[in-house]
Amino acid sequence: MDHKDPQTLRRLLSRWTTGVAVITTAGRDGVPLGKAVNSFHSVSLDPPLVGWCVDVRSTRYDEWVEAPGYVVHVVSEGQSDLVKRFARSGGDKFDGLNWEPGPFGMPLISEASVRLECQMWKQVEAGDHTYLIAEVIEVEDGPVSALLFHAGQPRTLGELVELHTASQAVTTLPRPSVAPTTPLLKAL
Ligand SMILES: Cc1cc2nc3c(=O)[nH]c(=O)nc-3n(C[C@H](O)[C@H](O)[C@H](O)COP(=O)(O)O)c2cc1C
Repeated sequence: MDHKDPQTLRRLLSRWTTGVAVITTAGRDGVPLGKAVNSFHSVSLDPPLVGWCVDVRSTRYDEWVEAPGYVVHVVSEGQSDLVKRFARSGGDKFDGLNWEPGPFGMPLISEASVRLECQMWKQVEAGDHTYLIAEVIEVEDGPVSALLFHAGQPRTLGELVELHTASQAVTTLPRPSVAPTTPLLKAL
């Protein structure tokens, strides 16, 4: 396996199941910016730090790294439309969306119940991404069953359990005397 080939590495890393977040900030002149990301993760509890990586090829890259902070919205099952909207490149991703500027001037998306408002803490250039670590300064909590991302697809936890159960059933079947011409089940 050629780990220096970006597509090969991307496919391999997609086996690592993550959640999905929509990250927003206020760009120049207060224009709202947003992105669907799966690089979001916790960094530290004391101080409370989180992080994610912004692609240097992003349409508004300069504004992301100039921003004083960002808001993390945890995406719930049933909100895959929100992921599609914020995965688009360029354009007004907020058109027709219910949102308002929060106390720190950054966009808060109404339909997201778990939100973390964060102040930029440190940035690290890392290859074709920049790592944006920020301190959590305000949180809103609510009921959420997080949407997951696995093998390049948004998935619910229930779907992943079903896929896992199906793959286990196939691997425990007795070996057929004649090899099937097509795989019984594609690898997850
Ligand atoms: C599941 C998923 C995860 C993503 N994760 C990231 C990420 O961690 N960082 C990033 O910069 N873009 C990520 N993207 C891409 C952005 O959502 C967006 O499509 C891309 O940056 C282009 O938008 P822009 O040019 O308007 O910034 C992800 C997209 C998807 C669908």
